[in-house]
Amino acid sequence: MAMDLTDRGYSPNGHYKGFTLWFTGLSGAGKSTLSRILEERLRRRGARVEVLDGDVVRTNLSKGLGFSKEDRDTNIRRIGFVCDLLSRNGVVAIAAAISPYREIREEIRRKVTNFVEVYVECPIDVLTQRDVKGLYRKALAGEIQHFTGISDPYEPPENPDVVVHTDRESPEESADKIWAKLKERGLIAFD
Ligand code: ADX
Repeated sequence: MAMDLTDRGYSPNGHYKGFTLWFTGLSGAGKSTLSRILEERLRRRGARVEVLDGDVVRTNLSKGLGFSKEDRDTNIRRIGFVCDLLSRNGVVAIAAAISPYREIREEIRRKVTNFVEVYVECPIDVLTQRDVKGLYRKALAGEIQHFTGISDPYEPPENPDVVVHTDRESPEESADKIWAKLKERGLIAFD
């Protein structure tokens, strides 16, 4: 990769730039799993990487926020803000939050250096059957209000950079598609 110190997001090892990999999709679709796989692949090649996972961010940076539209937007703006601080300083930021509202994702796309949006798609009936955290059962029973995909909206991206279908691709296959896009965009120059 050519060395260009005026390029925002330039990383000193020269094999990658700072960027933000933004996963959006329903709870349980595989955002965290894919984040960890990409994190591991990038780190193994010497990249500096931070993962901002919704479930984790909500225990610290966004502690106290709930799931109203306003609180979700605040959560997403905070995550986007940190992602930009990292990516413009040559670090890879990976965000894994439902981020259900299109408008706020677009706002973040406009602000964040080298933003790559990945739609983690999985049909709701597959998610309710898998129900890894047992939350869909509770949401369907009315024990959790405003649950995304059940009783709260999810607005799929209209123009995501990558779409992965986690009901019919293995995590490694999905990660390969994302990896190829990062190369194509000139954000990584690893094998
Ligand atoms: S976001 O909407 O603000 O992007 P975020 O990704 O941080 O959401 O948090 C989603 C996680 O919170 C889910 O994976 C689930 O574990 C938990 N959760 C608890 N209540 C809800 C709810 N009402 N809707 C969606 N997720 C919920």
